Amino acid sequence: MESEFDVKDIIVIDNGADTVKIGISGEDKPRIIIDSIGGEPKLGVNDEATNQKPQCLFGQQLQQAKIEKKFELEEKFPIQNGKIVDFDAIRDLYTYALEKLLQVNEISSCNLLIIDSPLNPKNYKHKLAEILFDDMKVNSVLFQNSSSLSLFSTGETTGLVVESGHSLTTCIPVFEGFAIPHAFQHSYLAGQKMTEILKEELKIPAGQLDDNVFKDIKERMCYVARDYYVDVNGPTLLSLEEKSYELPDGSILEINNSQRYKPTEIIFNPSIIGDDSMSIPEMMIDTLHRCDVEFQEELYRNIVLCGGSSLFKGFLPRIEKELLNEVTNTINRKDINFVQNTHRGYSAWIGGSMLGSLSTFQNLAITKNEYEENPESKMSIIHKKTF
Ligand SMILES: Nc1ncnc2c1ncn2[C@@H]1O[C@H](COP(=O)(O)OP(=O)(O)OP(=O)(O)O)[C@@H](O)[C@H]1O
Ligand SMILES: [Mg+2]
Repeated sequence: MESEFDVKDIIVIDNGADTVKIGISGEDKPRIIIDSIGGEPKLGVNDEATNQKPQCLFGQQLQQAKIEKKFELEEKFPIQNGKIVDFDAIRDLYTYALEKLLQVNEISSCNLLIIDSPLNPKNYKHKLAEILFDDMKVNSVLFQNSSSLSLFSTGETTGLVVESGHSLTTCIPVFEGFAIPHAFQHSYLAGQKMTEILKEELKIPAGQLDDNVFKDIKERMCYVARDYYVDVNGPTLLSLEEKSYELPDGSILEINNSQRYKPTEIIFNPSIIGDDSMSIPEMMIDTLHRCDVEFQEELYRNIVLCGGSSLFKGFLPRIEKELLNEVTNTINRKDINFVQNTHRGYSAWIGGSMLGSLSTFQNLAITKNEYEENPESKMSIIHKKTF
């Protein structure tokens, strides 16, 4: 990790339910990818008397506390379904990451670009702005949504962004940099639910394996089927090595077809787990139909696949196959183009890194002075400068 930090740098933070990605604008990857799950020390009788809320611990701090076992820890999930639900814990996470990991001298000199889900309303940013300006006293903040930035990371400003992360799968049309709200589609089926399904399929007794092991098995061993029932019931063409996963105790787990394909199938066919959410191809078609015909053509020309769960082998071929089955005659199949970059696991962060290094950041961001100028109009400056 590079240690230099210049106060003129923009710090780009992408809030995710699985990880928060943090780094410096202009760089090609986040410097820090930290688990969003925190641990809050449980108060003892003496601590309760001092009335001090304990700090929520993250990353190395949390690992250390688990090893030392000085106090009991309560697990915290401050980001859920694309939304921050525990702002105190987020303040602790940001403060830890900026001071201890990025080694920023004065948080008050920091300029932040905060990335979150396009589904979050502007009102929701008000609370986050309070944490950033009133508590942490940062210098300036720009809020941006992950879809516009994922698209920007590909060098384009118009396209259809299909993002499947940990807690959310979204399908968002973006026109000249702006996400078009009336056409948004989303579901809560994504990486987190896939890990749960894999856990059920593996039938390993509860408590025997750490959750991170299940997540790792999913990332390494699960694929997206081209045709689910054929792939699950057909012969496995994989070698023994490709089917085998070595558990932490050295024993070997052999993954069968159902375990391999069912977890990812939930985003293509939610009914297999009795869920009535739309599948990704349904979301894409629905979103496209909500847009004007000329705009649809532009969207078809640039379909960007991103988010951690787009990294599964077979993801693009399956979407391509299903979408091509659905498209009407008005669209020429040759005009449909998919973009799947190698950095798609953190493309929103990359887009933020690119935006943060443009001089326009200064005009777009909300400064501490603007925010504090008129206490009554804090909300209006957030509305005016949030996209
Ligand atoms: N190589 C991989 N193959 C398959 N899945 C992966 C891979 N790497 C990460 N994932 C999964 O992607 C998810 C994390 O994706 P991502 O970082 O986009 O989510 P997030 O931003 O933390 O969450 P949110 O859904 O709130 O945006 C996790 O469920 C993780 O297991
Ligand atoms: Mg995300």
